[in-house]
Amino acid sequence: MKNKKTTTSGIAPGIRKAVFPVAGLGTRFLPATKANPKEMMPVVDKPLIQYAVEEALRAGITDLIFITSSSKRAIEDHFDSHFELEVKLETAKKKELLRIVKNILPKGASCIYVRQTETLGLGHAILCAKNVVGNEPFAVLLADDLIDNHEETHCLSDMVQRFKTVKSSIIGVEKINIADSEKYGVVGFKDKFLTFGPIENIIEKPKPKAALSPFGVVGRYILTPAIFNILEIVKPGKNQEIQLTDAISKLLKSEPVYAYEFLGTRYDCGDKLGYLKAIIAYGLKHPEVGTAFRKHLKNLRDL
Ligand code: UTP
Repeated sequence: MKNKKTTTSGIAPGIRKAVFPVAGLGTRFLPATKANPKEMMPVVDKPLIQYAVEEALRAGITDLIFITSSSKRAIEDHFDSHFELEVKLETAKKKELLRIVKNILPKGASCIYVRQTETLGLGHAILCAKNVVGNEPFAVLLADDLIDNHEETHCLSDMVQRFKTVKSSIIGVEKINIADSEKYGVVGFKDKFLTFGPIENIIEKPKPKAALSPFGVVGRYILTPAIFNILEIVKPGKNQEIQLTDAISKLLKSEPVYAYEFLGTRYDCGDKLGYLKAIIAYGLKHPEVGTAFRKHLKNLRDL
């Protein structure tokens, strides 16, 4: 009997699974990241990975697949319960803190951890999720790209909605300064691009002259499972790593791939300056410390 949950192309219509590649070495943040995962760095009082997980949960994702390495155990601990801490908070009647630590994940969400034993690149990290994802479309979120979402629309939620219509891979993009093109994957279009549309090509970290457009890839993707077979054969590219960008470029030969320019601001928290900018933005709007922090920054300006 035909499975009602699959489309004619054999692809399930919804997105239930998200992959969080968190096995990178985070060398731009050494020595902070020598023993601590980059993804556990806090922006005010929440680690980067929790912001990404919350974005995925909000988009309806239930299966959280983390691609980790031996130095990233703190991520597993963060999403697990902490009996001793909970008892202490309960005894001290710190109800709000207890609620916060007990509700990091809602009921119904499950975490799956897969080890990437060698850091062979983002593409390789995603390939490590092949058996857990199976034959269904899935989301990818890079936690070091922190997205401060627009009030009404949320990047990944929008991408999930759009996937229902196009049933093709979708890449989050933002307008970049062409001079910075070597920090991004850059997409190119056949037709004029307005917020959402099919891409014609994608190149990893091109020189400004080779940039296909002023749109760079940010760490949000919805991918069809066809990407896995390509990742298995794609050769190491820039920095001798298996590049997701190269696999997407090959995917374009058999399937359309769309770009989505989300509303909101992305902070590159894998980079020191981007991380500091995020702390200022989130600190200023934090309900507990925002007002005092604003006052402090104003005083600094007067110095
Ligand atoms: P980055 O390019 O930011 O690399 O990876 P990195 O190692 O984390 O940081 P730097 O450049 O050395 O400072 C982009 C994303 O891909 C993951 C990273 O954890 C990050 O979320 N990644 C990268 C892996 O999971 N495995 C890899 O082999 C490479």
